[in-house]
Amino acid sequence: MAKVVKKAPTDFDLHPLINNRWSPRAFDISDEISKNDLHAILEAARLAPSAFNEQPWRFIFGKRGEETFNQILNGLGEFNQTWARNSSALLLVAGTKQRSNGDPHPSYQYDLGLAVSQGTFEAHHRGYVTHQMTGFNHDVMCQTFDLTTFEPVVVIAIGRQADSDILPAQMAEREKAQPNRKPLTDLIIKGSL
Ligand SMILES: Cc1cc2nc3c(=O)[nH]c(=O)nc-3n(C[C@H](O)[C@H](O)[C@H](O)COP(=O)(O)O)c2cc1C
Repeated sequence: MAKVVKKAPTDFDLHPLINNRWSPRAFDISDEISKNDLHAILEAARLAPSAFNEQPWRFIFGKRGEETFNQILNGLGEFNQTWARNSSALLLVAGTKQRSNGDPHPSYQYDLGLAVSQGTFEAHHRGYVTHQMTGFNHDVMCQTFDLTTFEPVVVIAIGRQADSDILPAQMAEREKAQPNRKPLTDLIIKGSL
């Protein structure tokens, strides 16, 4: 077996970062992410737009081998732990539900997703792969990191892709599934192309 390569079927000549990105679970345990790359990924996220420019995202992260990596790993669901432990870095992104003026922030998760998206594309641009996860224990994350005003929203595993044969057979099989998306016609409520 080898590294799985995927290209989502489309009739359009899309940017390769969009067309070729997918979420592997096979991470190369020998990879060490550089401080510069990790910093650049967070910087890309930092520059995201947000409602009222509130920037409601906050980052907790660690490289494999560091205490924070193990703490985030420990808060993941069992299935996610099995493969995410090989990633080079784990990034927990939390968000604030309140605007700075005290009002509720209805779009904080939307804004946070934009920041994660930008960080993700920067990571892929630098030759890494990413896998986002909401399969984690909310209470464990809050307790571990003393999150009271911030909500843990997503964990992102970042690393270099490995051959799929490092995974248990069933997971390796899933790794090879072709990208599957709804046709655009199912997504358009109104509007003609
Ligand atoms: C917000 C979010 C949460 C996700 N949670 C998990 C998860 O807990 N475990 C997992 O294995 N994959 C998780 N995924 C990965 C999705 O299953 C995957 O992105 C989707 O099937 C599309 O596949 P692709 O990213 O390879 O194109 C998550 C993705 C997103 C965006």
